[in-house]
Amino acid sequence: MLPPSRAQLGLFFILLFPANIIGLWWAVGSPLVMEPNSICRKMKRLAGKHAELCQTEPEIVNEVSKGARLGLRECQYQFRSRRWNCTNHNKYFGKILQQDIRETAFVYAVTAAGVIHAVTQACSMGELLQCSCEVIRSRFPPHPIAGAGSEASAWEWGGCGDDVEFGYEKSRQFMDARQKKGKSDIRTLIDLHNNEAGRLALKNHMRTECKCHGLSGSCTLTTCWKKMPHFREVGDQLLERFNGAIKVMGGNDGKTLVPVGHSIKPPDQQDLIYSADSPDFCNANRKTGSLGTRGRACNSTAMDLGGCDLLCCGRGHREEAVVFQENCLCRFHWCCVVQCKKCTVHKEVSLCL
Ligand SMILES: *[C@@H]1O[C@H](CO)[C@@H](O)[C@H](O)[C@H]1NC(C)=O
Ligand SMILES: *[C@@H]1O[C@H](CO)[C@@H](O)[C@H](O)[C@H]1NC(C)=O
Repeated sequence: MLPPSRAQLGLFFILLFPANIIGLWWAVGSPLVMEPNSICRKMKRLAGKHAELCQTEPEIVNEVSKGARLGLRECQYQFRSRRWNCTNHNKYFGKILQQDIRETAFVYAVTAAGVIHAVTQACSMGELLQCSCEVIRSRFPPHPIAGAGSEASAWEWGGCGDDVEFGYEKSRQFMDARQKKGKSDIRTLIDLHNNEAGRLALKNHMRTECKCHGLSGSCTLTTCWKKMPHFREVGDQLLERFNGAIKVMGGNDGKTLVPVGHSIKPPDQQDLIYSADSPDFCNANRKTGSLGTRGRACNSTAMDLGGCDLLCCGRGHREEAVVFQENCLCRFHWCCVVQCKKCTVHKEVSLCL
């Protein structure tokens, strides 16, 4: 196996190493209350760009780490009923990151987008000194929203919008970290492309939100500001790109990527790209990072993803009775308690053999 590229080391740094530390934090309390310096203190041994960022901007490193976790949670949601479900089991997940399969592309893209999201949110909330929310000083009014407000109302930029530029830069700095420019191998090019595709899935889909001001519901003035898309929308979009991911290989000059196959369109900036075919993820395999699907809960009536046929790779499934307690027959008592009974629920689940 080839050594990891620089960009891959960047993601290892953010995703895997803090994951262990995050585990520690969970043991003592919420990761949200820990002091920002702690990630960096634990990372003293690191050298290069990341160590430098730790020293100069520890509070941003903290947001970056939050963003990476946001990306990972979204990956787990989007892949919840697939054979590979984005479980961040350290060793196996590390193997996924070292390849250049579609799944790798998705992880890179969604974490790069998560980082912009977390940093930008912190900026908008006034939690970082380096950035703030965006006050648009454009003289061009926002696009009037169809159906809202009367003809005569005035529109202007106002309020405090999400300024993605700072988060975008930070995502680039952290995710694309390479010590030297130039000598780029094909894998690095692919990783960098997918990082950027993830960032664009967020940046190119900013929303405009508006609010009416005026007496008794009249819209004498409407102010508008920019908002980031919900992260779920970013995840949905990236999943579509995952489904249509484009296979590439290195061009003759060693610096460009060309699509594989003749009828295939060249990838645009927002496409996810990969160079190696995915394993089937049916069986556990340390080399490919597959945990296998044995024991996975599946749906015996569904024929698509998540259905036992597909998920269990034809090995079949068994039914298992599970018993658990659930709140039921809840009643509201004035004022203000809800009292519930405990009911025992019997349920059949299907598990892959
Ligand atoms: C994802 O897969 C792993 C390994 O097969 C399994 O342990 C885990 O429960 C799965 N997660 C979900 C949400 O299905
Ligand atoms: C199983 O799949 C069927 C058909 O797609 C669906 O109607 C049902 O809600 C699914 N059950 C569960 C537990 O997800």
